Amino acid sequence: MKSLPIVPARIVASPDGLPFAADFADTYHPRSGALAQARHVFLAGNGLPERWRGRERFVIAETGFGLGNNFLAVWAAWRGDPQRSERLDFLSVELHPPTGDDLLAWPRDAGIAPLADELRRQWPPLTHNLHRLAFDGGRVTLHLALGDVSAWLREWVATVDAFFLDGFAPDRNPAMWDARLFKALSRLAAPGATAATWSAARPVREGLGAAGFEVHKAPGQGGKRDITVARFAPRGTARSAPPGRPRERSVERHALIVGGGLAGCAAAWALAEQGWRSTVLDTHAEPASEGSGNPGGLFHGVLTADDGVHARWHRAAALAFEPVARAAVAAGVPGDVNGLLRLERELSGLAAMNALLRRHGLPPAYAQAMSAEEASARAGIAIGHPAWFYPGGGWIAPRGLARWFLRSAGDAVAWRGGIHVGALRQDGRDWCLTDRDGRELARSPTVVLANAGDALRLARADDWPIEPLRGQVSCAPAAGIALPRIPLADAGYVLPAVDGLALFGATAQRADRDATVRESDHAENLAKLSRLLGVSVALPGATLQGRVGWRWTAADRLPVIGALPHPERVAVGSADQPRLLPRREGLFVFTALGSRGIGMSALGARLLAAWVTGAPSPVEASLMDAVDPARFAARARRKPATGRRRPVAGG
Ligand SMILES: Cc1cc2nc3c(=O)[nH]c(=O)nc-3n(C[C@H](O)[C@H](O)[C@H](O)COP(=O)(O)OP(=O)(O)OC[C@H]3O[C@@H](n4cnc5c(N)ncnc54)[C@H](O)[C@@H]3O)c2cc1C
Ligand SMILES: C[S@@+](CC[C@H](N)C(=O)[O-])C[C@H]1O[C@@H](n2cnc3c(N)ncnc32)[C@H](O)[C@@H]1O
Repeated sequence: MKSLPIVPARIVASPDGLPFAADFADTYHPRSGALAQARHVFLAGNGLPERWRGRERFVIAETGFGLGNNFLAVWAAWRGDPQRSERLDFLSVELHPPTGDDLLAWPRDAGIAPLADELRRQWPPLTHNLHRLAFDGGRVTLHLALGDVSAWLREWVATVDAFFLDGFAPDRNPAMWDARLFKALSRLAAPGATAATWSAARPVREGLGAAGFEVHKAPGQGGKRDITVARFAPRGTARSAPPGRPRERSVERHALIVGGGLAGCAAAWALAEQGWRSTVLDTHAEPASEGSGNPGGLFHGVLTADDGVHARWHRAAALAFEPVARAAVAAGVPGDVNGLLRLERELSGLAAMNALLRRHGLPPAYAQAMSAEEASARAGIAIGHPAWFYPGGGWIAPRGLARWFLRSAGDAVAWRGGIHVGALRQDGRDWCLTDRDGRELARSPTVVLANAGDALRLARADDWPIEPLRGQVSCAPAAGIALPRIPLADAGYVLPAVDGLALFGATAQRADRDATVRESDHAENLAKLSRLLGVSVALPGATLQGRVGWRWTAADRLPVIGALPHPERVAVGSADQPRLLPRREGLFVFTALGSRGIGMSALGARLLAAWVTGAPSPVEASLMDAVDPARFAARARRKPATGRRRPVAGG
């Protein structure tokens, strides 16, 4: 999906004092009130609240978020219903979102006004992304897609129980009522899904009918004689979801997670968000004892000229991680979310940098182009280059973060340290984990392999193009080094002083399994530090300490997240898209976090949890495909591997 600048709504008052969209010449709701319309048309029209009662999860998808009145009305109704579903997922799409100020500027009905404040507090930067806002302890999730409905409906991955069709009037805004849109609804619809809209226009009724809905008129409100309600009842067999897409599974809600680094601990946290329990098994007694054990690391977004999947994935990851990092730091994890500077040595000056931001419509809340002077003021030391400033970036201690993930999962997670999983085998519906001697350690219908490179062995996926990159970080007393106030990065990085120490690095070596801390690597890290600070830093070898780890990195530099493809069934089929490839039931992987495991821990874990539980995906379909473990098999079908490798960079 191509990123577009998101242009906020131009909302003015209509002669009646209602919010009026200048670009569509229509009001956001009728004179009878937003809440009255939401209750009559969208809630009652979809059989709510009755239909969500007793359910684990109820999923609603809306076209046109507008001022969010429908969402707030649903949230208020759900909150007030003692028999509500355990979880409520509300997907909505908006081309011209209100600004945060607009959200509070327009009067709301008393029943929903207080909820609008909470919505405002979480209102995201206006980027072309699927934003996640969580309320009521994470049991209510708003998945807000900013951009055009025609692009987003193809990209949502969810099983929807009720549709709210709330574009402006069809004659003023036909794009929201297009035949392809109705087709897209049928792809998302759960069996028995319903739809409702205040429009009784014939093209709307015909469009829904052609897409497999049984359509009826119902009494209207607020001056409208009729509204339209519909129920998904396709003739013949409904098109089922492709084999390689998450689905709800009727199994005990418990997963075994192999590996207690950032990936495994974040997976346990994200599964707990979805009401699942998990048991994490790790070779070591303590979490984050291997790759995730450095004293500190960076997180921030990514900007590239083409804004391709890599930049989109890391932007989504950074947006998801920022609130998580803030919560972890507030809970005492060493770190700081005060922004990060990345030096720009290739683009020629600020004008080119600002042009890139404008081309992809990226707002200052995500990234800013700074002159050397501005960057210097931000860092508190002299910086000789223009730089990108990522306000939501920062640094954090990965081990503390991993522990925080486990703490936040609370009783939903059990830690079993000192257990090495030797093998994995299937036994009926269960996956059995055994030790090196074949003795059973644990069994469950759901297993997540989050054990970095060893996941390839357990998954029998040695042919995936994933390799370990050795990395050494260096650490020295900070006294005498003019360190920046916030992290500074280019091909290397340096953190602000942590407990009186300077942390910088890191090296990146292929095919190198040497675990010893090397003087030559310290020298390389000092050279990176000197280049970043623009002054030669020489430190006596005796003052330097280091730590070595491995970053498991895929050739395409993206993580591997999802259900494992079924090797035998994949071998006989001919599909060449990841989403069409058959899977092994109940076996999932979360690995190859490369040199950005901190920043992608939250998003990656939520995507993993969506695969395991059938929750709506936190990223669009094209990004899911990009990180899907089946992508290697799919690519192999499309073209033979070229074997070319890209140069490696430290981080
Ligand atoms: C030098 C260096 C610098 C880095 N800097 C940054 C940075 O600044 N920012 C950033 O975002 N990222 C950084 N990273 C990357 C980041 O640390 C990794 O992406 C991340 O830690 C990977 O987490 P993981 O859980 O996948 O792997 P790991 O942390 O290695 O966890 C895997 C776990 O699986 C366990 N395990 C393995 N096999 C088994 C088995 N058979 N049975 C039981 N348990 C098993 C291991 O004991 C281990 O605890 C850096 C990495 C290195 C090496
Ligand atoms: C009637 S308003 C929605 C009101 C909203 N449901 C509420 O509860 O406040 C219609 C919304 O559709 C949005 N919209 C119009 N065309 C769109 C498009 N092509 N893609 C996505 N959203 C669009 C408008 O910007 C507007 O906010």
